[in-house]
Amino acid sequence: MKQMIIHGGKPLQGDVWIGGAKNSTVALIPASILSRTPVTLEGVPKIADVDNLMDLLSEMDVVSDFHNTTLRINPEHIKMSPLPSGKIKSLRASYYFMGALLGRFGKAVVGFPGGDDIGPRPIDQHIKGFEALGACVKNENDQIKITSPAEGLHGATIHLAMPSVGATMNIIMASVTAKGQTIIDNAAKEPEIIDLATFLNNMGAIIRGAGTDSIRIEGVKQLQAKTPHTIIPDRIEAGTYISLAGCIGNGICIHNIIEEHLDSYLAKVEEMGVVIDATEDSLYVYPAGDLKMTQIRTSSYPGFATDLQQPVTPLLLSAKSGEGVIIDQIYPKRIGHIEQLRKMGADIKVEDNIILIHPTAKLHGTKVSAGEIRAGACLMIAGLMADGETVIDNADNILRGYDRVQEKLRLLGADVKIQDAPNE
Ligand code: EPU
Repeated sequence: MKQMIIHGGKPLQGDVWIGGAKNSTVALIPASILSRTPVTLEGVPKIADVDNLMDLLSEMDVVSDFHNTTLRINPEHIKMSPLPSGKIKSLRASYYFMGALLGRFGKAVVGFPGGDDIGPRPIDQHIKGFEALGACVKNENDQIKITSPAEGLHGATIHLAMPSVGATMNIIMASVTAKGQTIIDNAAKEPEIIDLATFLNNMGAIIRGAGTDSIRIEGVKQLQAKTPHTIIPDRIEAGTYISLAGCIGNGICIHNIIEEHLDSYLAKVEEMGVVIDATEDSLYVYPAGDLKMTQIRTSSYPGFATDLQQPVTPLLLSAKSGEGVIIDQIYPKRIGHIEQLRKMGADIKVEDNIILIHPTAKLHGTKVSAGEIRAGACLMIAGLMADGETVIDNADNILRGYDRVQEKLRLLGADVKIQDAPNE
């Protein structure tokens, strides 16, 4: 296990470059096995989730090589093999192998996915989609076994009960090679869905409407990668650095962003008083000033992202007066950061799934634990703001999704170190 050790209270300034989107990358890597030819992904973030997905690829004899920000994946000699528990449990996104294996082989055996502890995360909509395409899905001994009829999968119209990112991506992957047309209604509209569709279309798939709530897929026989694909910038990583800059920045420029992907987030933080100048693909956040309290309700894209409700919390704690409210409508139980922030002196509590925040003049460093990735990001910002030393246990959860985080924070002037946790 890793620990992040922070000596806080130092104003941070300079430049930070955002990596490729984690939540695109973790879908694109499984989707690569749909190609009959080698795949090249550019702008890949250096995060633990990528290492884990590469290990899963190797279990299927798919060779991959990650150098700088380029990931090469060769699925030419792929063997159809079950993916039992083990690594599958280490990340949620391993469930994309269900859709990818179905699209490539018409069958899949995948251990039940693990992932962040952020409350119940059912996959009924994924399964409903596979079944609509003609697949038979069985849950046996903590494994999901999926088979297709002899004639293969067929197109279908699938109405999702909620715009699920994972179900939309999984159904796209399973249906790109199904016979006929598939329509996904009430599809998720996140930018990562468009990224997946672009990647697959460049390999010969026919997917239209990605980014709207109705996606139409015409099945094709097979896919072949021909050109490298550059992953979109990580809007959640960008939002995390904006929050940090608004709390403790002394002028921070954040590069490689697509501003439009952050519209709801920027509207909220600017309303709070964070001053931002946008240029083509960079944002300059002016030195932290007085902030007003606010109320936030998360929702699907283009609403305020659930993945940013914890990283934005330190901004609310920095406000001068009033009571802040955060309601996470996507994951109401995503509250693992609250008890930890309270240990640092934060005036924050939760009542009936409503997070109530009061201004906290000073946080103090102490030992806390990152229960999941975004709780970890929130504690990291809190640690940078706090007096004294903050030790974040389970920092592995931060490394799962934040690209080169120690390097980036040090470039901004932070006193931060990631090390193996001592045996206790
Ligand atoms: N839901 C169901 N049934 C389903 C699928 C989803 O009830 O079959 C519910 C969920 O419980 C949740 C809502 O629908 O309340 C939305 O879930 P969604 O399926 O969209 O989430 P996901 O695909 O499992 C992805 C990201 C999450 C991010 C959510 C929401 C990946 C690997 N994960 O999860 O990212 O919070 O979309 O935007 O892309 C993170 O990066 O920190 C993270 C947790």
